[in-house]
Amino acid sequence: MGQSVVRGWTDRDTKAFLKTPVRFRHDLVETGVFSDEALARLLETHPDELTDVNLNEFNADGMAVVRTGTRGGLDGHSLLRAAKEGRVWINLRKVGCSDPKIAPLVDQAMADLQAANPGFRPVTVYANLLLSGPTTRVPYHADTPGVCLFHLVGAKRIWIYPNQGRTLPDEAMEAVALREGTEDLPYRSEFDEDAQVFDLSPGQAVLWPFNAPHRVDNLGTFNVSLSVEFMTWEGRLRHGVYYANGTMRRRFGLSPAGYARTSAPGRLVRWALTGLFKRFRVNAAREAVFKADFDMAPGARDSVQDRAAA
Ligand SMILES: [Fe+2]
Repeated sequence: MGQSVVRGWTDRDTKAFLKTPVRFRHDLVETGVFSDEALARLLETHPDELTDVNLNEFNADGMAVVRTGTRGGLDGHSLLRAAKEGRVWINLRKVGCSDPKIAPLVDQAMADLQAANPGFRPVTVYANLLLSGPTTRVPYHADTPGVCLFHLVGAKRIWIYPNQGRTLPDEAMEAVALREGTEDLPYRSEFDEDAQVFDLSPGQAVLWPFNAPHRVDNLGTFNVSLSVEFMTWEGRLRHGVYYANGTMRRRFGLSPAGYARTSAPGRLVRWALTGLFKRFRVNAAREAVFKADFDMAPGARDSVQDRAAA
């Protein structure tokens, strides 16, 4: 292993790890691996099937509608310019698994976190690189895996909410586990009373408990963050409970107790049931499918060419 990536981790952070949000420092910016030149090369060479080009539009109620597109005919530098100036945000999925410079940094960061947090044993790790423009807002949502966000370029504000109680209703998280739509959750502004808010600058990272809802506003700058997603057995059991409960509620008309009221053995049973439900594809027909409705193209506004208008 190389030089450590995580900086300034304290005993207090160890106590809070995966229980409440933790902000800490990292050394990824100084590596030079995320320079403009490197980002343009990644944008050009990362496989199409792992490259998400998205556009958030907000309707009259302020609810976000996520549209998905393709990078079309833009080269890496043009895509980078479009992400810097425009409305799109780009997710290079799993880049931390395949890129020979990024993968060792992700491995080192996870090794550092494991060294600082006895008992932390990730069973899977993926790292995605997120590039987003000055006005990008990510709506209130929860992710199935654990997330550690290493911020690299620009300024963003993240609100992180408790992963229990009013901010994470069971049925809403079940819908996320079952992939019925996007990961968005119903949001009310009074939830902000329960949030912890962090303004992130390059060289800072934030890590939060499994399924903790969050939302993000870019603060008028182009942003780049490395999102390291991981699963542990705790995360798998959580997912198993939401997936199995959601299936029982929707497919079999049952009313299972929520996550917080499910005992440890009950969680194990639900995790096992989830394996069966997935194996027999009980929910396959209900999983949402997202189709591209725009392509990136030179000359179009924000380089976004709507398919309907093409
Ligand atoms: Fe997220």
